Amino acid sequence: MQSITKRFPGVTANDGVDLSVERGSIHALLGENGAGKSTLMRILYGMYTPDHGRIFLEGQEIRIPNPRAAIHLGIGMVHQEFQLVPSLTVAENIALGYEPRCNGLVDRKTQRRQIEAILERFGFSLPLDKPIADLPVGIQQQVEIIKLLYRKAELLILDEPTSVLTPQEVEGLFAVLQTLREEGKTIIYITHKLREVKTICETATILRRGKVVGRLEVAAASEKELANLMVGEQVIDQVFPRSRQIGQERLVLKQVSALDDRGVPALREVNMTLRAGEIVGIAGVQGSGQSELVEVISGLRPARGEIWLNGREVSRFSPRQRRQLGLAVIPEKRKEQGLNLATHIQENVISTRYYKPPFSGWLTLFTRPAEQFAGRILHEYNVAAPGVRSMVKNLSGGNQQKVITGREMIDHPEVLVAAYPTRGLDVGAAQFVREAMIGRRDQGGAVLLISADLDELFAVSDRILILYEGRIVGEKKPDETTFEEVGLYMTGHLHAG
Ligand SMILES: Nc1ncnc2c1ncn2[C@@H]1O[C@H](COP(=O)(O)OP(=O)(O)OP(=O)(O)O)[C@@H](O)[C@H]1O
Ligand SMILES: [Mg+2]
Repeated sequence: MQSITKRFPGVTANDGVDLSVERGSIHALLGENGAGKSTLMRILYGMYTPDHGRIFLEGQEIRIPNPRAAIHLGIGMVHQEFQLVPSLTVAENIALGYEPRCNGLVDRKTQRRQIEAILERFGFSLPLDKPIADLPVGIQQQVEIIKLLYRKAELLILDEPTSVLTPQEVEGLFAVLQTLREEGKTIIYITHKLREVKTICETATILRRGKVVGRLEVAAASEKELANLMVGEQVIDQVFPRSRQIGQERLVLKQVSALDDRGVPALREVNMTLRAGEIVGIAGVQGSGQSELVEVISGLRPARGEIWLNGREVSRFSPRQRRQLGLAVIPEKRKEQGLNLATHIQENVISTRYYKPPFSGWLTLFTRPAEQFAGRILHEYNVAAPGVRSMVKNLSGGNQQKVITGREMIDHPEVLVAAYPTRGLDVGAAQFVREAMIGRRDQGGAVLLISADLDELFAVSDRILILYEGRIVGEKKPDETTFEEVGLYMTGHLHAG
């Protein structure tokens, strides 16, 4: 890609960007939130047309007016939000839109043979006849990758592929990527996790505010150098002091049980206590009940048992009533439960508090305080957006996350339930959010942190509870345990009592 420029109203997302990637290599595309990574890749995949610049593939200048043209040229992209149809089977999803036909009808036999040939060549085994909805995220992602291979992609673009994966699934993905590389495929890999860059990528290009600030051989650079190039300043190492003062009970769950969306038990007699001045981390492999736990506490999912918030039983309270008692929640599904993509930032940040002063009075909504409040979030949480009226759907992934995190944390809630609050955030922004959680705790707040990142859980938690098949199976202080031990609890190999 040669001197690519792409402007949106108020933002130059890419500003004269050069990117070159060698066949058969894995190239990292790095940069802070809003640096222009996704935009550059959407141009390569034909979703946006650049205002300026040229693209060459194997020495030939090409035009990519739409994704179909990109696929035809052998370019494929796995987006952060998977584009699979949940009710269709794995095989149907892989072939979707590109089914082999015979006399106008889908030729299922040929389709099956073609898919099996690819699975064999790349060493995958997938349950071809299962509906997508029944499969874990890691497998869904493999389906997305096979889908690209089925469309004969030679260049695969992965946009933050590990942000939704468990550590075990990340290992699986890496194995897949190695095989693809051995088979001569080229991969462009967007990530914020420098350790992943070190593990799997050969070369890297770093973007900052739409411009290339470096291109390097990964083997020759340290994680620290990479981080500094990304954020343009020294990144502080993560050492946080543990809690010094633990106070009264803020959030108590007594024998809480709940079902998941399919009616299967997801939480089983969970007991836990979260006190003022502490951060409790929840560890567990994905699908161990984390989502349901957050929804039950928020009041979005019915449960048996008792939930107490600041000394009151709130089991029957609505989400809004719980908020009024001091609960704030950073939800897991930011697009469905966290944000309204169809509107602007200001409306999104007051959506959880529009009914109380200073935002509303007798039958009116005051816009000035709302505007100021939104402005404060943009400023304090360093959200890259032209203004408070910018549409949320146009923000970069990380900046959307910052809007939610800022909205929930800026008022110093007494009880904060944070599900994956740093997911998709760049190194500097993630550090800022962790510091904000520590700050909240030190001022007497109570924080429940759900995270898939053991580094993060160990860095900030005062206690770690391990969730396995909907039960709390262990409790550990991070300084008195190891990743390995917590890993054994997470996989059901160890349990307390
Ligand atoms: N469709 C759009 N309309 C308006 N602005 C956009 C649009 N798409 C992206 N932008 C803006 O372009 C800039 C670059 O966004 P982009 O999504 O490429 O960032 P990114 O590097 O992928 O960030 P992140 O790490 O947060 O995902 C951002 O300021 C974003 O708000
Ligand atoms: Mg992005």
